[in-house]
Amino acid sequence: MLTLGHSDARTDSDHKLVVVMVGLPARGKSYIVKKLKRYLSWLGFQTKIFNVGDRRRLAGSADDYEVSGTGTGTRLERTKLNSGKTELHNQQQQHQQQPCADCNKPGVQQQHTSTARQGDMQAAACTQCDTRHSSTFFDPDNKKAKQLREQVAMEVFEDLLRWLQAGGQIAIHDATNSTIERRSALINRLRSETDVNLLFVESICTDKNIINRNIRLKTQSPDYVGIDPDVAEADFRARLRNYERAYRPIGAAEEKYDVQYCKIIDVGKKVIAYNIQGFLESQVVFYLMNMNLDPRVIYITRHGESEDNSAGRIGGDTGLSPNGERYAKALARFIDRRRLEFTAEVDEQNHRLEMFMASGTSSGNNSEPESVSSHSSNQSIDYSSLRLKVKPDFEIWTSMLKRTMETVEHFDPQKYRIKNIRSLNEIYAGRCEGMTYEEIATQFPEEFEARQLDKFYYRYPGIGGESYADVVLRLQQVIVELERIRHSVLLVTHRAMARTLLSYFMDIPTTHMPDMELPLGYVYSCEPRPFGNFLRVWRYNTDTDDFDEIDSSTALKIRYPKIIISDRKSPASSAHHDQHNLLPSPAETACSAKN
Ligand code: F6P
Repeated sequence: MLTLGHSDARTDSDHKLVVVMVGLPARGKSYIVKKLKRYLSWLGFQTKIFNVGDRRRLAGSADDYEVSGTGTGTRLERTKLNSGKTELHNQQQQHQQQPCADCNKPGVQQQHTSTARQGDMQAAACTQCDTRHSSTFFDPDNKKAKQLREQVAMEVFEDLLRWLQAGGQIAIHDATNSTIERRSALINRLRSETDVNLLFVESICTDKNIINRNIRLKTQSPDYVGIDPDVAEADFRARLRNYERAYRPIGAAEEKYDVQYCKIIDVGKKVIAYNIQGFLESQVVFYLMNMNLDPRVIYITRHGESEDNSAGRIGGDTGLSPNGERYAKALARFIDRRRLEFTAEVDEQNHRLEMFMASGTSSGNNSEPESVSSHSSNQSIDYSSLRLKVKPDFEIWTSMLKRTMETVEHFDPQKYRIKNIRSLNEIYAGRCEGMTYEEIATQFPEEFEARQLDKFYYRYPGIGGESYADVVLRLQQVIVELERIRHSVLLVTHRAMARTLLSYFMDIPTTHMPDMELPLGYVYSCEPRPFGNFLRVWRYNTDTDDFDEIDSSTALKIRYPKIIISDRKSPASSAHHDQHNLLPSPAETACSAKN
């Protein structure tokens, strides 16, 4: 079991795990990897993703890249997508000054013409970085390219091991690793490392509609920036056929090494777990079993203002103040309205997705009718079956404290299932319950100072006193349940709880978690999307008695309170606050979405 405090398993330097992803392209590996990284980081483990595709794109750009082990310094020819067609080339010349979406250098050739729609990929690539590889690069019979791909995968694995040796705890090797040969090489390499466990996670998808949607979305990956989506799709399907020829699912070959593995089939519908022994590994498998792709929203808000809030006292169990009552009524009206709006928004997304999918007129051949990757005509795909449907249920979860239960009293119980959950109770301040921060600073100055210095791990003194680290563990089951559930949920909870929940959904480091500014009167909504959760924020407006949507990119802030302890001044009077935005800028988000 995990223990708590500074000496818990999360900070044990000898507790290390390598998760090696396995699976064909477009099987949702990156989705799994990002979710897993977010969850494990939130649990307090230093976790990092090592993506082989990113390195492969860089390696492809190096003219003088040498294939090691040949002894001859063989130069690899880059697999160029633009095969030098004059017409195409001339058109590209006109676009020399546009910056490349990948390397941001001028000289990009991203124009494509209708000539590029035929069979083989002839789309343009950047003259500076030339990061794109056509399907022939992934042909298992293309020996040089294969050698480069193996080399890149192993180099990334070396980086990963170096990172673990330098103090990292959980490293995720994000690649297809779809051959026995590759996986054996990784297993053998790990043998010389002590105290590093290995877990293979294979993602298998049998749902052709999901695969087709993923394939269409792949046309927006960094390999196809600036390339006609139909051309990109045809190339990607050809790449997939190449991978399918060499792909061997995990099985007897790996079992003979006694490794641990799990297979996630159709986004967790079926899970096969083999030889899972470690505590952490079993947590990972349990978490992955509970994923789903249904459209829904997780709303998070604090209770309405309580009597203790207006008196500045922490903890306790008082009811709502008159202000809190007004908030409770407005919240019920607001959520009623948002439910209808969300259904309309998903309908709109369905419409846009169908248009996007149907715009494809892919020209890949149909030589492998049984293979999903050979579905090249949009006539063979039932796009309406891709529609996402909003489940009619809606749950409201509160803590077991009066102020949250009173906040949901105006919701219609016919339309909402309300649950009171003890794990959502506010962080327990032990001996400091019911005190103001000023009283704590005066009566327990050492405690007050210790909390300022390490708020995440600081545990309140007295029976039942908690730290934020304790709260994370208390909320672990709540998070897994929120991942499992297929409909929307409103969580009406407390400041420390809202910080902890939002840190999970928005991937905010635990170091920032306890200092997030989350005032009363805000509703945060997190919508699961392929590249993470989409945040929207509303603020209660006392003048209109309604909610206004605010800019979510600046809504999550941390406050660095600089409190002069030695003067023993009250925090309120001496605090100086620096503010710092927690969400990445749109540019940073675009970068991370590329992985
Ligand atoms: O003041 C409201 C409150 O919810 C307290 O009950 C709780 O102790 C506190 O906020 C948590 O915030 P912090 O961790 O910043 O003290």
